[in-house]
Amino acid sequence: MTQIAYLNGRYVPRAQARVRTEDRGYQFGDGVYEVIPVHAGRLIAAERHFDRLGRSLGELRIAWPMKRAALEIIAREVIARNGIQQGGVYIQVTRGVAPRDHKFPQNPVTPGLFVSAKRTRPMPAALLRDGAAIITVPDQRWGRCDIKSLNLLPNVLAKQAAAEQGAHEAWLVDKDGNVTEGSSTSAWIVTAEGVLATRPNGNEILPGVTRAIVVDVVHDLGLKLELRPFSLAEAHRAREAFLTSTNNYVLPITRIDGRPVGDGKPGPTAQRLRAAYLAATDRPPS
Ligand code: PDD
Repeated sequence: MTQIAYLNGRYVPRAQARVRTEDRGYQFGDGVYEVIPVHAGRLIAAERHFDRLGRSLGELRIAWPMKRAALEIIAREVIARNGIQQGGVYIQVTRGVAPRDHKFPQNPVTPGLFVSAKRTRPMPAALLRDGAAIITVPDQRWGRCDIKSLNLLPNVLAKQAAAEQGAHEAWLVDKDGNVTEGSSTSAWIVTAEGVLATRPNGNEILPGVTRAIVVDVVHDLGLKLELRPFSLAEAHRAREAFLTSTNNYVLPITRIDGRPVGDGKPGPTAQRLRAAYLAATDRPPS
């Protein structure tokens, strides 16, 4: 089946989608994106994702490419045209096309818009059964990681390093020895005392939508949570560790840099939160 994408005003076969070489997204990474999960053909937590898109755009002073409601309709149309039941929608907005010059174009340009959708396979049973192995790398990113910008080189390098070591994800560690987040996931631990910890929102991390929903779930379940940075040393001593993201939901971590976390098995808190997160977003357990 031909994949259909939406590019700058038109639905086009994805393979034929073409962008201009002077699109600032292509030349400067001057743009932002969102990935919204799809279940049973419907967007999950759409409101929160579009809120975050609006925030990213606002921080970079890029205009919405169209009214938010119209963009939501296009996202749903791309899902429908591709017959996606389980997967995700990718939305990318760039500052637009202009002759290459670092500063913003003098005359206002129309932002570039690209929307695509893809099917995802269920997570491998072995990963859920055994938990994920992760590595750690220095956090080499800039000072505005709260913006979901297209500039992902440090994230790309971190994920590649993880893949080369047979790991699922890389946690990024700042100059103080604290974990900021994963290359494309939010980072959590359950301390030796049984308290959940994850870094508070700020310039150092992306405000994860899955993370925000899990924070709500944690409160509903009456579990103890501290929104604070935690160090890599504390993660090594933790009872449990896990990550959250649109694609992974809540995924237990059982090895950090080759060392087992807790007893080396997926932890009960992470497993409970995975089920509760899926229930909170109207999805069956998986
Ligand atoms: N990544 N931190 C970073 C740096 C991310 O890129 C992401 C999402 C997250 C988790 O956010 P959320 O729960 O809203 O998915 C945390 C997306 C999925 C991506 O880049 O493909």
